Amino acid sequence: MKKLLVAAMTTGVLMSASAHAIEEPAKAKTCVGCHGADGNSMVPNFPKLAGQHASYLEKQLKDFRDGFRKDATMVPFAKGLSDQEIKDLAAYYAAQTAK
Ligand code: HEC
Repeated sequence: MKKLLVAAMTTGVLMSASAHAIEEPAKAKTCVGCHGADGNSMVPNFPKLAGQHASYLEKQLKDFRDGFRKDATMVPFAKGLSDQEIKDLAAYYAAQTAK
């Protein structure tokens, strides 16, 4: 019984390790407060980013940054991002598992 539990736990650890294979971009630190550490926000007002398509996330971030999508809360955080930072953030959140 104990062995089985350990095996199950080890598998869980390995699986979550592979789900986080992409390193967290430095800029993600500024998103944690609203969208959660792995893109799974705890509050319904803040959309979950985990597991969404990278191309979708990339477009939304550029739209916020460039003024095509408006939101008083979100826009200030998209404003300072470069194209590369947006790409990295989108890839990171797309690789997370939605909970
Ligand atoms: C102060 C809270 C807050 C912070 C910090 C924040 N966001 Fe947001 N974000 C929001 C809110 C609120 C929305 C929903 C806006 C709307 O309804 O249009 C949103 C929407 C988004 C969306 C669109 C999601 C969708 O499903 O369309 C993306 C992508 C996103 N945020 C990424 C980020 C990233 C990346 C960062 C860090 C650089 C970040 N956010 C920081 C509050 C925040």
